[in-house]
Amino acid sequence: MHRFVIDGGTPLESEITISGAKNAVLPIFAATLLADGPCLISNVPELRDVTTMLKVLEKLGCRWEQEGPGTIRIDPRDVRCYDAPYDLVKTMRASFIVLGPLLTKYGSARVSMPGGCAIGVRQVDLHLKGLAVMGARIETDEGYVKATCSRLRGAEVYLDFPSVGATENIMLAATLAEGITIIKNAALEPEIADLATFLNAMGAKITGAGGSVIEITGVTSLLGANHRVIPDRIETGTYAVAAAITRGQLLLKDAPVSMIESVIAKLQESGVEVAPRDTGLLVKGPAQIRPVDLTTQPHPGFPTDLQAPFMAYLTLAAGSSTISERIFENRFLHVAELRRMGADARVQSTSGTVIHGVDHLSGAQVMAGDLRGGASLVLAALAARGRSEVSRVYHIDRGYVRMEEKLGRVGARIRREDDRAPETRPGQP
Ligand code: EPZ
Repeated sequence: MHRFVIDGGTPLESEITISGAKNAVLPIFAATLLADGPCLISNVPELRDVTTMLKVLEKLGCRWEQEGPGTIRIDPRDVRCYDAPYDLVKTMRASFIVLGPLLTKYGSARVSMPGGCAIGVRQVDLHLKGLAVMGARIETDEGYVKATCSRLRGAEVYLDFPSVGATENIMLAATLAEGITIIKNAALEPEIADLATFLNAMGAKITGAGGSVIEITGVTSLLGANHRVIPDRIETGTYAVAAAITRGQLLLKDAPVSMIESVIAKLQESGVEVAPRDTGLLVKGPAQIRPVDLTTQPHPGFPTDLQAPFMAYLTLAAGSSTISERIFENRFLHVAELRRMGADARVQSTSGTVIHGVDHLSGAQVMAGDLRGGASLVLAALAARGRSEVSRVYHIDRGYVRMEEKLGRVGARIRREDDRAPETRPGQP
């Protein structure tokens, strides 16, 4: 396992290029299962979660190869297995997204229930309800979902909550169903629209993706297609906070500016200067951070995935802020670790934290407990006085491409070490 060793206090300057979106490429990889030929996916980020999804596809019988930097060719023509095992799904719940494609293409699927994770129970009831309405016979047994159908039939599916994963699983299943499926109260996240763009390139008939009503007219087969993955809005927001918390200035190249309007608004409310540029987004940290109140919501509201990174930033505000987490039930694991660095953040309930700004944070040994919480600790360490060590960096590697390299190139004093190396004390080289 690895840790990051970070000496804080350096304003970040220059530019960072944003990678392809983790939460777009994972469902797009699952969608390749629907094709009758190979697909070429580009702008694929080098992430642990991408590697895990490729292992799942391999287990099912897909063949894949790297065709160039960030370009993966996936050939699903030898798929013979419809079983996504627990040992893979437990490491990445997004693997559950193969259920819809396997079921609608082969009439059968056995996928491990994803189980919970650090940030919450992560149910899949909305996925299953939608597929059942479309005619799937579903049973859960020994921690697995077993689903069969002759051919799914189009239906009207109303989602009790605009779940990203449920919207994606049902949309994928509907592409080869008999008739028209209408998903109401669908998730609006941009990754849904990107998935629909890829599916339509394969010959699917989807309209309305990105809106709350999506209509899918089933077809009998889908072809292989090529697709370039959209940039990662969460990585963008994370590095915008990095510029803000270090009082630096970064140009975020390829930043999907239109996808993070709620984040830009909150940054500006706190005093950050944000200016769209031809090649991306220019972010300049404030001399003084103004406190703000933040509530996470489904898109286009403030994204839950940036709650932890933004909290690190607000620990240094000139005043008190509040954060309300409305999407997941346990997404404050980072608070205790930030307090080890001197933050005055207090969890009031499973959905609310108050942050009283302090004059400075101090370097400390902290531990990442989940992907975005880990990113939060790195951001805090970049601004802290002295040395920090962030352990269990494998959480961070799930969703950020070589974070230490991207930050190191813009002035951060950060290095990756093997966890087994002797611990360095603050002030030591
Ligand atoms: C996706 O997760 C993202 N992951 C998450 O990003 C993101 O936080 C989340 O959407 C919200 O934007 C991927 O796209 C791979 P949901 P997903 O279904 O699909 C409840 C990251 O850090 N729910 O919208 O799992 C669920 O328990 C990750 O990159 C049900 O109750 O999100 C949660 O509380 C973390 N029943 C809420 O809805 C269901 O059937 C949001 O879940 C499905 C979900």
